Amino acid sequence: MKEGKLPFVIEAEEVDRLHKASGLSLEGFLATLVEPTRSLARAPISKFHVGAVGLGSSGRVFRGVNIEFVGLPLNNSIHAEQFLVANAARNGERRLQFLAVSAAPCGHCRQFLQELRGASDLRILIADSKAETHELSYFLPHRFGPQDLLEDDFPLLLEPQSNSLCLNPSPQEASDILEDATRHSAGHHEDHSVGSVDQSVQGMNGMTLAIANGQGHEERANFSDQQLLDAAPEAQKLIQLQSLALEAANHSYAPYTNCPSGLSMMTRKGNLYKGSYFESAAYNPSLPPLQAAVVAFVAEGGGQFDEILHVALVEKAGATVRQADTIKLVLDRISPKASFRFIQFYDLYHENHDRGGQIPKPSPVMISRVISKVMIIVMITLKGDSRLEITGCNSGL
Ligand code: THU
Ligand code: ZN
Repeated sequence: MKEGKLPFVIEAEEVDRLHKASGLSLEGFLATLVEPTRSLARAPISKFHVGAVGLGSSGRVFRGVNIEFVGLPLNNSIHAEQFLVANAARNGERRLQFLAVSAAPCGHCRQFLQELRGASDLRILIADSKAETHELSYFLPHRFGPQDLLEDDFPLLLEPQSNSLCLNPSPQEASDILEDATRHSAGHHEDHSVGSVDQSVQGMNGMTLAIANGQGHEERANFSDQQLLDAAPEAQKLIQLQSLALEAANHSYAPYTNCPSGLSMMTRKGNLYKGSYFESAAYNPSLPPLQAAVVAFVAEGGGQFDEILHVALVEKAGATVRQADTIKLVLDRISPKASFRFIQFYDLYHENHDRGGQIPKPSPVMISRVISKVMIIVMITLKGDSRLEITGCNSGL
């Protein structure tokens, strides 16, 4: 472990070494990590610093702290236990075995933890003077949780999630999309933070970024090779940001509403972070994708939130749970200069199901054809920032 900076993840060998050196029981050793963890909390409203430490089945240790946002409603706060779970998830941990926390977990956290496999048996130590350890079922008897709403074998939080959102048409399909997109696009785009890009660009990964030119005209722009090249560096940044948001959306845990989402952010220095939306069976304790990305930002040593310069959100078109509007409001408060891109995907697979499941599951070829038909790019000028909506598809594969 490096001097000075406490890591949010401690590798298994290091845990083992420190544990042995401590001469304590494993749980006793983990309890000693709680107090120093509290110093990482960002609690400008309550000044109440909560630290949580969790042991994963891989032997790694994850830290969590509470985060509060000045100027926003309290329900935007991130609790230390939620931070810890999101931190474990972003590091691919499959199961938590033990938690040590500086204060008794609140009802909201007791509920959020129900999303973990074997939740009732999760051991929790409250590292105060009494240092008592109890299973989660002691803290929350008569639980309401995933077992009330999902099949037993449904993948739970921390278990692999794949929402099959896609956005990678072939070059021919991409050029069809480009044509469609420029026909459908309207409005003037001024994105000061990334420079004014007013031509369509085909990205490295075959994804097409089309940005409308003109004011409300439905006309097709012409793109010279030079224009494409000139726009490439900016477009690549956006494409990278969007691919990250897409990855995050694909790992989102949204079994209750089937409205996965993911968010990515880029700082002034070019650092990238992503976060996946995690739902709770009881809805309200759910962790939105912006908060999940803030967990990554804080865990990776990010500084002030106004370092965040670009944000991309991926969610489903027509979703019954939409993050975009709330995220825009939160961003306006924590990093007012950040640009915000909003990318929507059609969920063909589930739409079919909703119609009675009569239509067979679409093949990849059919899907990519459909993508080129449904992909529409809309620019909305919003307080000088840009909001980009791209529609793609969810293959459901
Ligand atoms: N807090 C936690 O982080 N976990 C809990 O379960 C108890 C409460 C935080 C939330 C808020 O930032 C502060 O403590 C005061 O409630
Ligand atoms: Zn809590």
